[in-house]
Amino acid sequence: MERTIQQLALFPYLEAQASERPPDFIPIYTPSLDGHEEAYVCDAVRSGWISSLGSYVTRFEEEFARFCGVSHAVSVSNGTVALHLAIHALGIGAGDEVLVPSLTFVATANAVQYTGATPIFVDVDPVSWCMDPEDVRRRITPRTRAMVPVHLYGHPAPMAALRALAAEHQLWVIEDAAEAHGAAIDGRRTGGWGDVGTFSFYANKIITTGEGGMLTTDDSALAARCRMLRDHAMPPQRRYWHDEVGFNYRMTNLQAAVGVAQLERIHHFLERKRAIAALYRQELAGLPGITFAAERPGYTNVYWMASIQVAPPYPLARDALIPVLRSRGIDSRPFFHPLDTLPPYRSDTPCPVALQLSRSGLNLPSSPTLTDEQVTYICAVIRAG
Ligand SMILES: Cc1ncc(COP(=O)(O)O)c(C=O)c1O
Repeated sequence: MERTIQQLALFPYLEAQASERPPDFIPIYTPSLDGHEEAYVCDAVRSGWISSLGSYVTRFEEEFARFCGVSHAVSVSNGTVALHLAIHALGIGAGDEVLVPSLTFVATANAVQYTGATPIFVDVDPVSWCMDPEDVRRRITPRTRAMVPVHLYGHPAPMAALRALAAEHQLWVIEDAAEAHGAAIDGRRTGGWGDVGTFSFYANKIITTGEGGMLTTDDSALAARCRMLRDHAMPPQRRYWHDEVGFNYRMTNLQAAVGVAQLERIHHFLERKRAIAALYRQELAGLPGITFAAERPGYTNVYWMASIQVAPPYPLARDALIPVLRSRGIDSRPFFHPLDTLPPYRSDTPCPVALQLSRSGLNLPSSPTLTDEQVTYICAVIRAG
């Protein structure tokens, strides 16, 4: 019962279906909080440092920077404000255009919109499902200032090609790594490829702080600027003086205490998630019409989500499979809608690959807490159609 309540708290928009859920319902994601999370939070409470000053904040930032292989990490209150702070800190605003993949969570475009700049949607690659460098080239204009590649569902975007285009056209690169902690290209982790990287620690992410986010960068001046802006643009050496309008985007010491404990176990989460993805692939191998997320050579996909494409000759359409899974106690999620089809962002320039992937994409339960038996059961239900 307790477990069910916890799962509902994570996905409040599903609350209406609470009474329909059997106790053994398999949710799309459940955080694993049985390391030092409770001990560190209690320690922070006992210390009295429960707001944004406190040793766990510093420790989480230092350890996360080391994990990503960058010089600086700046903690913030969620992944959306991490993106907003990054774009704002780079001086991007009204009149500017920022390239964003069509297939991503809406926060990527919203963060651009908050600055007054215009998100310009770019189609994705049919294999990696991430921003397509060829389409990026087509959509660059004299007003383009930046691009925000997203490592969708855990597969890294093609950062070398995107960086080369950015250098050619003098664009900033803001990496949206909300879904890809620990993913890598040629061994170099996400968060270290762009001018700045951003992460989310929402409860369904690879590591969580409840709500939370992080910026990562090798640029000391940019890191210092982000730290100042997240604290109402107050310079550390001059209290209550503000040269510009800043924000309160700080992470609390309580959140960071959870983050430090989660980071202690990130390698275990990453290993377990790769094993789960491999088991899904093995159990569904050869099922006509079902295909999997790729892993391009040289790339490390962290499989944040166990994603499949559902197409003929599989007997059910994606939208017919979702209720079948639900009736057997299995949660799932359709892919994001292409952002250029949503009312605030509707555009006449189509992104056909994003549209096709969006219509047939399905995310299956993906928690590191899933057992092999649960994955085998989910695959048997899919096989039965
Ligand atoms: C690609 C992407 N960007 C940004 C975000 C925003 O993160 P948060 O929910 O922490 O604000 C998310 C969150 O789900 C995401 O998936």
